[in-house]
Amino acid sequence: MDFKLQHTDLQSKARAGIITTDHGVIETPIFMPVGTAGSVKAVHATELEDDIEAQIILGNTYHLYLRPGLDTLQQAGGLHRFNSWRKPILTDSGGFQVFSLAENRKLTEEGAEFRSHIDGSKHFFTPEKVIDIQRIIGADIMMAFDECTPGDAPYDYAKQSLELTERWLDRCLTRFRETECPHGYRQTLFPIVQGCVYPDLRKQAAENVASKGADGNAIGGLSVGESTEEMYEMIDIVNEILPEDKPRYLMGVGTPANMLEAIDRGVDMFDCIMPTRNGRNGQLFTKNGIMNMRNQKWKNDFSPIEEDGASFVDTRYSKAYLRHLFNTGEILALQIASIHNLAFYLWLVKEARRQILQNNFPAWKASMIDTIMRRL
Ligand code: GUN
Repeated sequence: MDFKLQHTDLQSKARAGIITTDHGVIETPIFMPVGTAGSVKAVHATELEDDIEAQIILGNTYHLYLRPGLDTLQQAGGLHRFNSWRKPILTDSGGFQVFSLAENRKLTEEGAEFRSHIDGSKHFFTPEKVIDIQRIIGADIMMAFDECTPGDAPYDYAKQSLELTERWLDRCLTRFRETECPHGYRQTLFPIVQGCVYPDLRKQAAENVASKGADGNAIGGLSVGESTEEMYEMIDIVNEILPEDKPRYLMGVGTPANMLEAIDRGVDMFDCIMPTRNGRNGQLFTKNGIMNMRNQKWKNDFSPIEEDGASFVDTRYSKAYLRHLFNTGEILALQIASIHNLAFYLWLVKEARRQILQNNFPAWKASMIDTIMRRL
């Protein structure tokens, strides 16, 4: 994997760059739709490619390991062949899901023991195993196995947790160097900065991660219970230290406003379930604000979902029709809302990139933030 930093905005830390992988290029800043179990829920690969213009999607080690399992993924020739997504894929390591989803988890120096949230079966993830699984899945970008420290963790817990993540990172890197992609293309490994909301721990974590010389670096453990101000402060601290010539990935964040603020602070890559999950619950993000499509207010509003929206669904269907689909529990509601929200998120980062290249990012950001988060 290769990253070329094309331009940094003159008045902020916002950057435009290009990541090149063996499955194609990614123009940053970028949003990566989440396809936990190998599918971006309710959205076809063709819609992702042609309409939403996704350049990379996410998969999840924890979910894919449980189902369909490694035997099927291996026989399929990796996830790209299995789900017919030909562009880049990034897999999260399971570090987050083991802690948020699995039951009866037990953490030791060696790894994490847990019971599947599906059938209660017992499993054990080690840093080495998580690399082996991601090799089989065939992600272009693999993530290190970490403990995602909760946002309200006391200092002593956060420090011990970070130090475990650092030892696990070294084991991930060793296994990564000892192995190769079984599918014949290049894979890379991103380390993850933890450290909770404690500036000295975040600094220590960023310095340790920076010293590994990876192709890209991630910031984890944010948007997990801390305040928005604390999150921005931690991003500032970490981005001062992470290398400028490598992409920076903020994991699991966030709202449209969160992404613009993080881009302003030098972040290049994002993922979040918000556009798809909230979309399936009837919440639509637009340039003019947020709409709840279940609201009675749209009952007889036959205007387009979004007049100048980024997707064909925006002008093809009316607000009243989409409300009706949600109201009657039609599956099409979930499809329209997911396509709309993902197209909006991808439009937002593409426009941010255009504004960065024109040295106009801060003024544009300020005008967008005024409108995108208001309730319609
Ligand atoms: N997704 C959101 N936050 C995190 C994190 O801290 N670690 C991992 N592995 N995944 C995440």
